[in-house]
Amino acid sequence: MASISDGIAGPLRKDPRIIVALDFPSRADALAFAGRVTPALCRLKVGLELFAAAGPGVVEELAARGFDVFLDLKFHDIPTTVARACAAAARLGAWMLNVHALGGVQMLEAARTALEAGVTRRPLLIGVTVLTSHGAETLGEIGLPPDPAAQVLRLARLVKTAGLDGIVCSAREAGILRVRFGTDFVLVTPGIRPSGVAPDDQQRTMTPLAALRQGADFLVIGRPITQAPDPVAALEEINNQLRAPL
Ligand code: C5P
Repeated sequence: MASISDGIAGPLRKDPRIIVALDFPSRADALAFAGRVTPALCRLKVGLELFAAAGPGVVEELAARGFDVFLDLKFHDIPTTVARACAAAARLGAWMLNVHALGGVQMLEAARTALEAGVTRRPLLIGVTVLTSHGAETLGEIGLPPDPAAQVLRLARLVKTAGLDGIVCSAREAGILRVRFGTDFVLVTPGIRPSGVAPDDQQRTMTPLAALRQGADFLVIGRPITQAPDPVAALEEINNQLRAPL
């Protein structure tokens, strides 16, 4: 993976920056939302809930409608299993995939190699460092040093060493990560809340424009859009905010 592309030709296309988290309980709900937006307005994220409820066909269907699909299944298993899962996910037409950095360099490299080998349209491969729901206490509980920021940096280095395209991180860490790892490292940030919108269960939120200014490439946004009275208006409003100078 010498330089980042979005699997087709040429450099990574950044717009649209918003990846809407399709955290819906059924295929019908997810497709109804997708029917109201366009690939020019947003990318879409299929996570564990929707994948378990609707199956892989939903990824193929969204991709067939022209959407870039981030398949957020956070693979973490032995290298061979993860490599094969990544290859299968790529065949579904996913634009971006992720794996847990805690799987170690051998697993990360196996995932990368599987994607380089077998598919015509290589998805971006992103490492998950520390879940935003994990604080010092949880890290201590599972035997890791109780310092989330240090752990994120350590795992981000691992991801970079293994040649992946970037990481999922909090927008609050994006600034330092951008400085440490340069412009060629994709930063995907959840925990985004426009000002005046409820934080829900997110702890460390940031507004969309602030996240972009910190160096985030793509913003994962769920409830502020999907649960808004008018989801399309909410999405368009955030896209407008992101047009301000960085
Ligand atoms: O609704 P909300 O904007 O909080 O949704 C955020 C999305 O990003 C959810 O799908 C959640 O699973 C995902 N995510 C997250 N924090 C991470 C990784 C993924 O919130 N560290």
